[in-house]
Amino acid sequence: MARNNLNTIILVVIMVAITLLQCSLAEDDPYFGKLHKVGGNKGWTTPKNPDFYFKWSESQTFNAGEYLEFSYSHEYEQDVMEVTLDNFLSCNNSSPLHHYTEPYWVHIVLPEPHRTYFFIRGLPELCSKGQKVPIKVV
Ligand SMILES: *[C@@H]1O[C@H](CO)[C@@H](O)[C@H](O)[C@H]1NC(C)=O
Repeated sequence: MARNNLNTIILVVIMVAITLLQCSLAEDDPYFGKLHKVGGNKGWTTPKNPDFYFKWSESQTFNAGEYLEFSYSHEYEQDVMEVTLDNFLSCNNSSPLHHYTEPYWVHIVLPEPHRTYFFIRGLPELCSKGQKVPIKVV
């Protein structure tokens, strides 16, 4: 009887260990790349410091297959444009490569390595105040 109880306990311990292992593996699931929340807790907004998004971007390592989340949940209507380097520097919104206008937040995958992607707010005056971010994928 004592031996049976011990076997039961060992079985339960093994099952718990397998469950914990599966949970930790799910977080590293290769099919769900890491999500970078642009601007951290501040999200996607017009920053007080024009360097804010540059500094945030420098603090991160971006790998191909990972995602960006542009979150502006406090403002229903917002946008994100992917633009060329020239249009990024001049906050020119006339010919974006992509224009994302979904409400609340946008998720964008970073498809290619060894490439820098440039994102701006579509309103040039807010882009000029620093609502723009370069993303360098290693
Ligand atoms: C903005 O970009 C477009 C297309 O690239 C270009 O034709 C236009 O001259 C640019 N505007 C300014 C003000 O630089």
